[in-house]
Parts: sequence; structure tokens; C-alpha cells
Amino acid sequence: MEKMKKLYEGKAKIIYATRDKDTVIQYFKDDATAFNGKKKDTIEGKGIYNAAISSKLFLLLEEKGIPTHFIKLLSPREMLVKKIQILPIEVVARNVAAGSLAKRLGVDEGLVLKKPVLEYYYKDDALGDPMVNEFHIDAMGWATKKQLESLKGSALKINNILQKFFLKKKIELVDFKLEFGLYKGKVILGDEISPDTCRFWDLNTREKMDKDRFRRDLGGIVDAYQEVMKRVVGAKC
Ligand code: TMP
Ligand code: ASP
Repeated sequence: MEKMKKLYEGKAKIIYATRDKDTVIQYFKDDATAFNGKKKDTIEGKGIYNAAISSKLFLLLEEKGIPTHFIKLLSPREMLVKKIQILPIEVVARNVAAGSLAKRLGVDEGLVLKKPVLEYYYKDDALGDPMVNEFHIDAMGWATKKQLESLKGSALKINNILQKFFLKKKIELVDFKLEFGLYKGKVILGDEISPDTCRFWDLNTREKMDKDRFRRDLGGIVDAYQEVMKRVVGAKC
């Protein structure tokens, strides 16, 4: 599938048109940013690891009946995906308190939540992606009530599927971020699921195996991403 015009460039990915109006190519870069782009670096090979990990997880979700934008991996950094109209909402699912939740509620990182928690953030860099609730989403028209119900159900199912999958890989799925979009009128999962967008802790040591190593200057980023790749895909690259 030929790469045509660049349609959009984000912090970690580029979207290219193809000859088919319904499909686009999602290219995974090595660039990493944090704190709304204030911290920047390049992590060698990150794009390859994230594309491989995301592909495996999208396939798993499709097998379990969750519609996603994934079609196939075209090359180590290029994923052919359905062209969706992205909803301007980030959905965060949490199983363990960490990051902004731990800070906001004044609890220790690592506290296991009694039930999964879903949060919504309005995608707007200038505003720093503020947290919003279902009323804001409805009142602002960012998604219809029906779309929101569908997205909520999907997010909880995805959490269930991924939690079980990662447990088998000896990884604790702490939290993760999802993005959904509309394809032919239906809400489907888009974006990526990778150590950039999830918190993964080693089940035995609770060692961080995700982008927090970059956000918090912990070092060992490439090793961590490679280890996730090895456990998830079964290969080291
Ligand atoms: P948070 O604790 O910083 O709110 O992050 C929750 C989860 O969402 C965590 O797994 C990292 C992911 N995330 C993104 O994918 N993109 C972002 O811009 C942010 C802030 C978090
Ligand atoms: N990717 C986000 C940014 O650069 C933040 C993050 O993942 O922490 O703002």
C-alpha cells in the first residue's frame, strides 16, 4: 500500500493518506514527549516496538469482538488502519492508583483500586487536555449519548481483556489511555496501545516498564520497551 500525502503529524505518529479513501497509514516515530510537549527526546527503536506491541494487542481485541481501526502491519513502523473521525476525548482506564490519579486524590502510587475507574480528558493541547465528565461531553457535543455508552462499554471490556492478557505475561496493567473514532457511523478503537500510552509494572518487582521511565528520568527506557515487546509479541527485534 503506497504512502501518499501526509494528513497529520502528531507527537509520536504521522498519518498518511493511501489511494483508498477509507484507509490511512499510521507511521510510528521514535520521538517522545511528555508534559504536553515540554519534555522532548528520541528513543531509538521506540516506533518499532510500539507498532509491534499495538498490532498484537489490536489483533487480540479484534479476536475478542472489539472493533478497532487495525488492518495490518505493513512494515516495522507502518500500520494500515481504517480512516476514522477521531472523537476529541481521551479515555483513561485505571486499575491501580498512579500518576495524576495518585496526585489528585493524595493516595500512594500502587494502591489497588476496588474497581476499574474510567476518566475522560478533552483533547486540546492548548488547554493541557483537561479532565471532563459525561455531562461536559454531552453538553459540548463531543460525542452523542449513544456513542459515549458504546465507548464506555468498550473501554471496560478492553480493560478486562488486557488485564487478563498482561497477567499471563507477568505484567500488572496499572492504567492506560484509549482513543476512539467513528468509522461508517460506528464507534471503533483507534490510535495505539503501547508503553507510551499504558503503565505496565513487572508483576513481581513492580518495576516500571513504560513511558514513566522517560517522564521521570529513570533510565533504561529502551530495555523496558524491548522487554514488553518480548513478553507481548514473543520476539526481541
Ligand atoms: P496520568 O496518570 O498522567 O493521567 O496518565 C494515565 C494514563 O494515560 C497513563 O497510562 C499514561 C496515559 N497517558 C497518555 O497516553 N497520554 C497522555 O498525554 C497522558 C497525560 C497520559
Ligand atoms: N504525550 C503527552 C505529551 O507530550 C504526555 C505524556 O504521555 O505524558 O504531552
